[in-house]
Amino acid sequence: MYCVKKVTEDITWVGGNDRRLAMFEGVYSVPDGVSYNSYLLMDESTVLFDTVDKAVTKIFLQNIAHVLNGKKLDYLIVQHMEPDHSASIEELLLRYPEMKLVCNKKTSDMIAQFFDIDASSRTLLLKEGDNLKTGKHELTFLMAPMVHWPEVMVTYDSTDKILFSADAFGTFGALNGAIFADEVDFMQDYMHEARRYYTNIVGKYGTQVQALLKKAASVEINMLCPLHGFVWRKNIGDYIEKYQKWSTYTPEETGVVIAYASVYGNTENAAEIVSSRLREQGIKTVMFDVSVTPASNIIAAAFRYSHLVFASTTYNAGIFVSMENLLHDLAAHNIQNRTVAFIQNGSWAPTSGELMRKVFEPLKNINYIENTVSIRSSLKASQEQEINALVSAISATIPKFEPIQGAAEAESSVDPLALFKIGYGLYILTAKDGDKDNGCIVNTVTQVTDSPKRISITVNKANLTHDMILKNGEFNVSVLTEEAPFKVFRHFGFQSGRDVDKFEDWEDKRRSANGLIYIPKYTNAFISGKVVSMVDCGTHTIFIADVTETKLLSAAPSVTYAYYFEHIKPKPQPNVEKKKGYVCKICGYVYEGDPLPDDFICPICKHGAEYFEPLQ
Ligand code: FEO
Repeated sequence: MYCVKKVTEDITWVGGNDRRLAMFEGVYSVPDGVSYNSYLLMDESTVLFDTVDKAVTKIFLQNIAHVLNGKKLDYLIVQHMEPDHSASIEELLLRYPEMKLVCNKKTSDMIAQFFDIDASSRTLLLKEGDNLKTGKHELTFLMAPMVHWPEVMVTYDSTDKILFSADAFGTFGALNGAIFADEVDFMQDYMHEARRYYTNIVGKYGTQVQALLKKAASVEINMLCPLHGFVWRKNIGDYIEKYQKWSTYTPEETGVVIAYASVYGNTENAAEIVSSRLREQGIKTVMFDVSVTPASNIIAAAFRYSHLVFASTTYNAGIFVSMENLLHDLAAHNIQNRTVAFIQNGSWAPTSGELMRKVFEPLKNINYIENTVSIRSSLKASQEQEINALVSAISATIPKFEPIQGAAEAESSVDPLALFKIGYGLYILTAKDGDKDNGCIVNTVTQVTDSPKRISITVNKANLTHDMILKNGEFNVSVLTEEAPFKVFRHFGFQSGRDVDKFEDWEDKRRSANGLIYIPKYTNAFISGKVVSMVDCGTHTIFIADVTETKLLSAAPSVTYAYYFEHIKPKPQPNVEKKKGYVCKICGYVYEGDPLPDDFICPICKHGAEYFEPLQ
């Protein structure tokens, strides 16, 4: 029997998994294994996309023979020459004498470097934009240099709209019986390994990844087939969004990575104290002992979070060895756009702070916290001010989701009756960043606790309002009533604040004590929230917030979701010209065309294909 997996009617995964490999590329631990993906297209011509690592070559060759079922293999497309994908080229040339290699010039040169074979007479050389028709399928080749080696190219199957993406969109971790990312809880169980894979393997080459993303954006993609990890056929946009952030060195989250190198625990103690004080201010921290945690995990965390604190003892008049290695590794991965602080220790000549900073000097857009804490052997009570100054300086650069001071005072501006207006309804969520106000429609507001008064809101990450709350930690919720006309929903829900200023001509607005806009018309209450914690739910973030102010605005009943659909949302017009397409059950957006792609996301309300129904 054979463990092959159908990807589409014509394409079968014929790769293998390795759970015995200790260190991928000799550097990166892979505790959950790794998959080497190869795909076999059975068309009028048969086409194999890449080979596999030598560790799984035997099973790979058996898989190919099984799927070919007696047919000859016509083409081997070589997208990437790193041996984890090219190890079996020579064996395939021997087994399939009619097989042609399809690759670019750089790849062809590398084949001659890696193998003692002359395959030139069996090589079809191609360049950017060249096509190969295999029968039903038409393949187009796009160069992707330095994602992850210079010869890398990707292949677009315009028939099935599949991008064979080489190393891009891969992940560490064996496949464990699944082949599609939507068969597993990817965000929960694999995203950390996808991040570790990306940041360590191609993190350095953000510009080149950006170039590939631009090419990918010019074609319609229904499926991503990478060389490691899962095939993507749903929610592809979410994964591309992560690649956008990683390749532009944009932090995914506000939070502080504290990495320390401590010989006898005194530097560690200082790092613990700083972490603890930041936490007391509601700031998220993650800590690593750099002598224990593999650098690849810390690099992944550094790409994830906005702030980095490095604490190191001075060792041989330099930086402690494990910290020095980590920092050079981080610099080699081109980390940018971060706020960085240092703690140094040294019993007779502390210099590691200055030296650590030097490593960052070539990197772009690093904001230094100048309050470096300097320790002589161990932190003393007399250094309280120094520690507090460092914590305050860090804290000043990030949104402080601190618990409300003087809760009794805050309570006085909170009318508990306003919270009774919350239901499974619809709300205008407003936030602000600098001079820009924005608002969007949300449907998930819940009172979480009564003492202290806290609510949660769930917001799609694609919304501008989401990013404003993420940055500044404050928002207002205006509770919509049954009187709200459809134009309110259209105005706040059917257009993006990235494209328009939603408040420019919107007259019905006021500001609450927190300086944010709330909507006084077609609403019965507003609630101001100050974020105390967040939960990353993949496509959405749940913000949990202290209620800082509420006000009852009218006695009109809150609109429910059901009421909106029954009485407010316009019904499809029976006499409109009949088109083939699908309508979003949530917002009414019409997708013209058939079929609706499985991973289609409504551009208006961001709901997926499952929320669409055929046009009547
Ligand atoms: Fe999985 Fe760059 O090779």
